[in-house]
Amino acid sequence: MTTIPSNNVPTFTLLDGKRIPVLGWGNGTGDARKTATESGKIALDAGIRHVDTAQGYNNEKETGETVSNSGLSKGDVWVTSKLSQKDGSPSNPPIPLASARAAVNLTISRLGFQPDLLLIHNPFLAEAGQLVPFWQELEAMKDSGELTSSIGVSNFRPQDLKAILEVAKYKPVVNQLEYHPFVLTHLQPVLDIQAEHGIITEAYGPLSPLLRHSTGGGPLKPILQRIAHRISSETGREVDSAAALLLWTRAKGVVAVTASGNEERIKKLAAVQYLPDLTKEEVAEIEEVGRKIHFRAYDEHMNIDFPVPEGVEIQQ
Ligand SMILES: NC(=O)c1ccc[n+]([C@@H]2O[C@H](COP(=O)([O-])OP(=O)(O)OC[C@H]3O[C@@H](n4cnc5c(N)ncnc54)[C@H](OP(=O)(O)O)[C@@H]3O)[C@@H](O)[C@H]2O)c1
Repeated sequence: MTTIPSNNVPTFTLLDGKRIPVLGWGNGTGDARKTATESGKIALDAGIRHVDTAQGYNNEKETGETVSNSGLSKGDVWVTSKLSQKDGSPSNPPIPLASARAAVNLTISRLGFQPDLLLIHNPFLAEAGQLVPFWQELEAMKDSGELTSSIGVSNFRPQDLKAILEVAKYKPVVNQLEYHPFVLTHLQPVLDIQAEHGIITEAYGPLSPLLRHSTGGGPLKPILQRIAHRISSETGREVDSAAALLLWTRAKGVVAVTASGNEERIKKLAAVQYLPDLTKEEVAEIEEVGRKIHFRAYDEHMNIDFPVPEGVEIQQ
């Protein structure tokens, strides 16, 4: 981890040398989506320097205005956006190849600036058989200087990554995925490809084991509580299980994209950036327990033609 200057937020370095803050605040879910302007301001004021939006969240304009009006230099706030189907739903029609460049320009004009990172929201964004030429349109826009953003992907399965990597002039710098301990076993083939090529994982839904699993954490619950208690005692700061899980994400070298529309919780999320690391033993313990369970909160992309391996307990 290194840092970016504005308030020394911790960063990871991407394949193309740019530094991405390790904790992102997204406005694609819950109250954060409904109140993108107000919550975005709270997030930036609280010290978060990474905002994750998408065409499909219908709030790129609000995101751009919030960042531009924040009083911060644009260089100090990382903004990711995504080319999406209407409303972000993969069941809506794809973007035809001939419209790929117009879609990129739409994001730039709505934001009012080039995003730091532009993602293909999911592999179904391109028409069948057109994913590779779609990626090449982004590469061509980079070469012509029309697009200065880093480029990456989201919800890409092994077959999607392999197809792009076979021809890529610019490898995707990230794959943004539902990532937490309960999807590790399923994701392993994706993570192996990414490790081989230096592609960083961005975790969305990182708090899913605690918030969306019916037991509120299952066997991870007491482990995260114990870790939160240890860090609270050692630092004198209030640390909860959600913070412990985000620290695990960071320890795995994964950017956590979380969300909140609640001021107190946004401040807590911002504070996670400055909490100390988990021990190696804690990281391993969470992983060992998590790998035995499969629980996916967002099932609209990764389950298609990418089966869960046998022997993992599938839970709801
Ligand atoms: N690429 C994709 O396909 C994709 C898919 C889904 C999401 N995303 C991105 O990832 C972002 C985050 O996704 P997510 O909402 O699933 O992330 P998450 O981190 O798993 O969950 C965020 C939720 O946690 C709650 N929360 C925050 N801090 C908390 C705490 N300390 N204790 C308890 N609850 C807490 C928030 O609710 P309150 O608002 O009530 O605080 C918020 O709704 C999205 O906004 C979006 O930008 C991308």
